[in-house]
Amino acid sequence: MSENTRNNTTSSHAASQGVGTEQTTSSADESRNDANRGGEARQKGASILIENVTKRYGGGKKPAVDQLTLEIPAGQIIMFVGPSGCGKTTTLKMINRLIEPTEGRLILGDEDVTKINGDKLRRKIGYVIQAGGLLPHMTVASNIGLVPKMLGWDKKRIAERVDELLDLVSLDADTYRNRYPRELSGGQQQRVGVARALAADPPVLLMDEPFGAVDPITRQRLQDELINIQSELHKTIVCVTHDFDEAVKLGDWIAVFDEGARIVQYDTPERILANPANEFVENFIGSGAGLKQLGLARVGDVDLISGVLGHPGQSARELVGHIDKTGYNSAVIVDDRERPIQWLSKEQLSRMTTVPSHLDKELPLVGTRSTLNDALDTMLVASTGEAVVEGARGRYRGIITVETVMNAITELRRYTPGDYTPVGNNTGEIPVTVQRTNSEASGDAEGTAGAESQDVDAPVEGDTTSSADPTGRAAGREPWNESGDRS
Ligand SMILES: Nc1ncnc2c1ncn2[C@@H]1O[C@H](COP(=O)(O)OP(=O)(O)OP(=O)(O)O)[C@@H](O)[C@H]1O
Ligand SMILES: [Mg+2]
Repeated sequence: MSENTRNNTTSSHAASQGVGTEQTTSSADESRNDANRGGEARQKGASILIENVTKRYGGGKKPAVDQLTLEIPAGQIIMFVGPSGCGKTTTLKMINRLIEPTEGRLILGDEDVTKINGDKLRRKIGYVIQAGGLLPHMTVASNIGLVPKMLGWDKKRIAERVDELLDLVSLDADTYRNRYPRELSGGQQQRVGVARALAADPPVLLMDEPFGAVDPITRQRLQDELINIQSELHKTIVCVTHDFDEAVKLGDWIAVFDEGARIVQYDTPERILANPANEFVENFIGSGAGLKQLGLARVGDVDLISGVLGHPGQSARELVGHIDKTGYNSAVIVDDRERPIQWLSKEQLSRMTTVPSHLDKELPLVGTRSTLNDALDTMLVASTGEAVVEGARGRYRGIITVETVMNAITELRRYTPGDYTPVGNNTGEIPVTVQRTNSEASGDAEGTAGAESQDVDAPVEGDTTSSADPTGRAAGREPWNESGDRS
């Protein structure tokens, strides 16, 4: 393993010492929190180390999880994929010890949590299952406030936290807080499930096929919301999915498992798509790996064509003259706030005297945050081979073409992220870097054993996300960083 890896492994562990605390440092939404929570800041993600863990059910011969070692960097999204029965859920539930490992150790941040009180551990780890897993006899507010109530928060603080979380998951608090789960749609239940998991501000979120039970459009929206929430909160999220496209869209890292939770490949979506480890992974990716890469890049990342702009009321002849000079064959008509409203060819314009002002509802329009996949879809549906791109507040940004998308595919193939990859194996060997970090960690854990019951630790120093992002990959992905584009 390279020097680079070692430094990053150490720093991500070091940066996440604040496991279990709610008094962490800076957060993007501090001002909002200040208003709601008397100045408490948010808890960022903690690293997780699954160390040589085996699970045998009922003394079975074949382990459900076989000597798994998996390093999960702080503040990132890790997707688990693999065939049914390969041990994904078992692995996930061992992280919060809903299932106890038969052998091995679990390290959360710098703390060995293999033997600590399971209920206490679970307060530091949010858990989301399909359809939200809400308690049917309790209101939305009571469901979300469950863990804070157990932690002894006062009523006012819980009520404020509930409203804050409903806002975070895009549900209107006044409308939904007193409803029962049966009075919500599947997607809304799922949102409440996410809000509930985040209630006590845990550093880690576990999700088991969270979006499996909703229709494709709702799923896409929930995925986008998760990306937005993550860009604000920087939790460590471990998410099981059956959908490889979902893994590519959401994951900073993807672990592809085979039976016994054997790691076949653990890498970035880019590298898995570009270099699947073997036929098993190839089959898992399914057809069209090249097309799937389009789910990685955003419209805002590629070079757009500037095009020609026109305005309602302008002389059509003048605009045609302008088009001729620039070598294009169409013009995008924008309103007085630079928002595209129509897209007219030279031919159409030559039949007009003035440029009209009406809004074309069929205008093929994509946002800078859309994936290239979304953009291609829009172009194909509109059968234009091109789409107009809007940026912040709907402002015109340019034109994207099928050619641009093709060029981007070539670029993606050439993409070489840093040489860092987190450790993942089933060999029983624990890499030196991890061993060293652990010996430091177990020393810490002994030293602070008494503090655990108070749920108070040292504040997190620095930015866990950047330190745990050695590839710089997250920085290159718009939705993780670009906070204000369309909002
Ligand atoms: N409580 C249990 N007792 C005995 N065997 C179990 C138990 N839970 C799971 N298993 C077995 O352990 C293996 C792994 O199960 P697990 O639920 O982790 O798979 P999975 O990867 O989540 O599958 P799926 O994609 O179908 O959800 C399977 O062979 C399963 O039958
Ligand atoms: Mg499962």
